Formats: sequence, C-alpha cells, structure tokens
Amino acid sequence: MATTLTITDQRTKRGYEMPIRDGAIRAMELRAIKEDASDFGILSYDPAFLNTASCRSAITFIDGGRGILRYRGYPIDELAKHSSFLEVAYLLITGELPTATELDGWTADITSHTMLHENTKKFMDGFHHDAHPMGILVSTLAALSTFYPDARQVGDPESRALQIRRLIGKVPTIAAFAYRHRLGYPYVYPDNDLGYAGNFLAMMFRMREARYEPDPVLERALEVLFILHADHEQNCSANVMRSIGSSLADPFVASAGAAAALYGPLHGGANEQVLRMLRDIGDLRSVPRYIESVKQGERKLMGFGHRVYKEYDPRAKILKAIADQVFEVTGRNPLLDLALEVERIALEDPYFVDRHLYPNVDFYSGLIYEAMGFPTDAFTVLFAIPRMTGWLAQWQEMLLDDEQKIARPRQLYVGHDRRPYVPIAGRAAMTRERQGVPMGG
Ligand code: SDX
Repeated sequence: MATTLTITDQRTKRGYEMPIRDGAIRAMELRAIKEDASDFGILSYDPAFLNTASCRSAITFIDGGRGILRYRGYPIDELAKHSSFLEVAYLLITGELPTATELDGWTADITSHTMLHENTKKFMDGFHHDAHPMGILVSTLAALSTFYPDARQVGDPESRALQIRRLIGKVPTIAAFAYRHRLGYPYVYPDNDLGYAGNFLAMMFRMREARYEPDPVLERALEVLFILHADHEQNCSANVMRSIGSSLADPFVASAGAAAALYGPLHGGANEQVLRMLRDIGDLRSVPRYIESVKQGERKLMGFGHRVYKEYDPRAKILKAIADQVFEVTGRNPLLDLALEVERIALEDPYFVDRHLYPNVDFYSGLIYEAMGFPTDAFTVLFAIPRMTGWLAQWQEMLLDDEQKIARPRQLYVGHDRRPYVPIAGRAAMTRERQGVPMGG
C-alpha cells in the first residue's frame, strides 16, 4: 500500500512524492517544493506546534480521543494501583520496571542524594518571607548548577545518571525548604528511613516530634499523585527541557527552565488557579453565573480543557477516587461540592461539550492538596516534584536521539522590507507622517 503523499504545486504544475512514516511526513521534505531554483522552498507553519511532532519518543503514550495514558506501555491506572513513585521513576528513566534488587539500589541511590548543600539555605533565606515557592524552586534549581559543574558533562552517561539521581533526590527537599522558609519554620532535614512521599511529608510538616510518622492513607495518596504527574509526553515544560537541553546546557538549568514553564497558569499553575476559581465562585448558587461568564469569553474554566485530551483526562478520574480516600482522613473539603457542581453543569453544556472541554489533571488535585494541609501556592511545586522525573527522561532521550540537534525553529517574516537609516533629526517628521498628522500640525 502506497505510503507516500503526492503534492502538486499549482504554481509550477510540478508533482512531489513524500514518504509517510508513523503517520507523518518530514517537514524538511517540503523544502524541495520551489517556484524556481533560487527559492528557499516551502516551510510548514505551525504556531504553538498544534500539529508538529518535534521528536520520536518511547516514554509516554497518550490517546487524547480515548483518554488513554501509558508510561513505557503500562496503563496509568495500573501503575497508580500497584506501583510506587520511585518504581515509576525507574521505569520512565530506564524504560523497564525494576527487579527487586534494581529497585532497592535505585531507592538507595536516590535517597543518598536528598540533602542540599548548606549554602543553599543562605541562598533561600535571601528570598522575601512571602516569595512564591515556584520562584524559589526555579531559582534554586538553577543555583544548584553552580554546585555541580560536573553536570555540564552531558555526553557522559555516568555523569547524566548521577545528575538524574541528584535532581530526583533533591527536588522534594528544595520544595520543603521553600515551604518552611515561607512560614519561618526551621528546615527539616530528610529522613532517609521514610519513603519518597513520606520523607517529603516529614520535611514539610514535622514540628516538635522526634520523628514524623506520615499517615499511611495520605502517604499513599501522595505517592499516587506523584505517579499521575510524573510525565505527559511533549507538554509545554517538557518541550522547554528538551529545547534548553539541546544546546547541551546542564540538566539543572534546563530543569529550572522547565519549572518556569510549568509555573504558568495555563500549564502546571492551573491547580492553584482552580482553588482560587472555586473560592471566587463562592457557593453553589453562583456556579451558573460563573459558567456563563466563561462562555462569554470573560475567563477560562481553570482545570478544564487540554491540548491532547478531547475526552476525560484519565488522571482526573483516578484523582476523583483518591479525593474520597483522603477526605476520609482529613474531612471533606467543602469546595469539592462546588467542583462537582461546576463539572456537572459544564459536562451538560454544549459550549464545553462542543469544544471537548473536560476536567484535566489539575481540576481535582488542588482539592486534595489543600485537604492534606498544603498551602495553595505550593500546589505547582507539588506538580514539579514528580514531573522532574519526566523532564529528565525526556532530556536524556533527546540527548541519545541521533536525529536531534540544537532546537532552532524558522519563522515567517512579516516585518518591514529594507529601509534606510533615519538620522534622529528626521524622526519626528517621520513619526507624524506615520500617525497621519499633517506636516506643521
Ligand atoms: C496541564 O500539555 C499537557 O500535557 C499539560 C498537562 C501535563 O500533564 O503536562 O496535562 C498539565 O497543563 C493541564 C492543563 C491545565 N490548564 C488549565 O486547566 C487552564 C485552562 N485550560 C485552557 O487554558 C486550555 O484548555 C489549555 C491551555 C489547557 C489547552 O488550550 P488549547 O489546546 O490551546 O486550546 P484552545 O485554547 O485553542 O481552546 C480551544 C477552544 C477555544 O474556544 P474557541 O476560540 O474555539 O471559541 O476551547 C476554549 C478556547 O477558548 N477553551 C476554553 C478552555 N480551554 C479551552 N474555554 C473555557 N475554559 C477553558 N478552560
């Protein structure tokens, strides 16, 4: 069966055959289409990469139409049910589930990297008391680049493996220190006898007790939240990680850039915005009016919609079930009733149905985090902790991909044609002319 695309250039009546592989044509094939030999050739134009594959990847598979999400082929609901975050991290980074011995070694490796250089505290103490934790996280990740100059050896597999373990191990500590700084509490050092999620809870919430014992239901819920947020193929922040990494910058500064992208309210910052939105709505009676304002284009319904999922985000389904388990322990978050009513009305309204707008991963996660005692502006940091593993898996895959090189898109130039320099004395007249002000006016 022909696996080629035939294109006819009506300007020249010339025909072109292009191979179709994996459902795509290579954009560079378009450059052969020229009006005359001196032409640059045809570019593909795709603002925000709506229909552009930037890489081949074997890490995460999403079928947006069927609401499918798999890490290295394993369905997300099975991993959420049976796996641990560090086991999923091993799977994402290496491509395979670990044996018991491999998992023990991996866990010991990560755990041995949970401490931060003491100077990090001096750096962190320089932030204002109410500095947003994401601003602290982004800055501290970049600052850690100066502590580990060996991280610049991105071509060395051993160095890459060491930086990956360092970043996965340290990101919860950075997050917890940022939170403790906010509250003026002493920093709690990692307790390496606890699991990944349990240690994070201890660093966040331990006060006077000699040893923090995390609630097992909350610890498991946080593990699952981390698993659900670990990777999501070529999302905005993963694209940034790959792009910065493509210049061979080290993974500390690359992950700082990725975290900066995640901070945006349209990406990982949405979970924080959902809680603010629900508080804005205030009560059940106000939901219809709020939904109407969204339909009038006055605002977005935060936690709804997705570039890829045109069905229910499979992660949101799992989160809804976790919410009930967490609320059993913490007490029901009263905002849940508001969230359920927003979802009920939106899922019946043609505005949302016609645009395939369903709850995404951020719609319910914030309700759970809040019930667990996390402050609203820590929610995106909670997203960044597990997503660090996804960014690193994407970064490493990019470096090992022979087809990849430094990321440098083209553009369609729509600015001025060549024009001569104007001495400053002549510019006022030029400005008046441009603004249509008559000379002497
Ligand atoms: C994450 O990419 C990933 O994988 C991200 C992520 C991951 O794990 O990394 O899944 C995590 O970022 C989830 C998304 C969190 N963001 C939000 O919840 C913010 C609210 N959502 C929207 O801003 C929006 O849905 C996006 C950004 C998520 C997706 O935007 P797209 O793909 O660019 O879609 P679009 O803006 O072109 O919308 C298509 C139409 C438009 O209407 P029309 O112009 O056709 O009339 O749908 C409308 C949009 O106005 N629309 C919404 C809406 N989202 C889209 N209208 C109201 N509320 C919304 N939330």
